[in-house]
Amino acid sequence: MTPPSPSPPSLDPARLPRHVAIIMDGNGRWARQRGYPRVRGHAAGAESARAIIREARRLGIGYLTLYAFSEENWQRPAREIRTLMALLKRYLRQELREMQENGIAFNAIGNLARLPADVQEELRRTREATQGGTGMVLTLALSYGGRSEILQALQALAREVQAGRLTPEEIDAARFAGALYTAGLPDPDLLIRTSGEYRLSNFLLWQSAYTELYFTDTYWPDFREAEFHRALRDYQRRDRRFGLTQEQVKSGALARMQGAPPR
Ligand code: IPE
Ligand code: IPE
Ligand code: MG
Repeated sequence: MTPPSPSPPSLDPARLPRHVAIIMDGNGRWARQRGYPRVRGHAAGAESARAIIREARRLGIGYLTLYAFSEENWQRPAREIRTLMALLKRYLRQELREMQENGIAFNAIGNLARLPADVQEELRRTREATQGGTGMVLTLALSYGGRSEILQALQALAREVQAGRLTPEEIDAARFAGALYTAGLPDPDLLIRTSGEYRLSNFLLWQSAYTELYFTDTYWPDFREAEFHRALRDYQRRDRRFGLTQEQVKSGALARMQGAPPR
């Protein structure tokens, strides 16, 4: 672990991503490498989540979204799922005070109805108890799948059309985004995936259309502040054009373009 540094060198505080999303992968391999059971990797991974949430808040990142459990992960062994759910519940309880003290507004996205009742209850309590937070929006993706998210949005809009409250032509990108679990969140500027896998695994498929991607071989339990800073520095070297030419971007056309993030 790196010692806390008030402002990491060569990180421009004015050009931080507004929204960072992370696919926290590699807990199992981290554990196996050490001869531990997989669940010990998940416990270590929870420590990384704690460290990265804290650091993101300290740096002033507005939105942090963490992929903690995918819809496909329901097919894992029942014992592993039980341990993950127990870890999650314990984590929420332990972190509530710190979240409140640091102005973190907590939220969860995904097919939450599929989660055990006690976990749903803990999520609801955490969300309610942190609602007033204005420092950072922390979103946990749980029982989450991007395709399912898109399908349920489509079904909700189709019902509106069927009821005569909406015409098909009125369904534009903004209205569609408003029907996703992520309604109200800006699109992620930076998406990090750990553990050397180069795929999205069904995460934020609609939302990441123009997101900058960062991949690292580091397993999630080893991903701490120093590596996070490395990802942010890498992001700050990127040239985001959103389909425009570099000259257009320099002349401020991007800011005038509708729907584009402010930087
Ligand atoms: C990520 O680590 C955590 C979850 C998906 C819940 P993994 O458990 O996928 O770890 P690996 O990929 O098997 O190493
Ligand atoms: C993606 O990791 C989901 C989470 C990190 C929660 P997986 O380990 O489930 O993804 P795949 O199976 O390698 O694509
Ligand atoms: Mg994995």
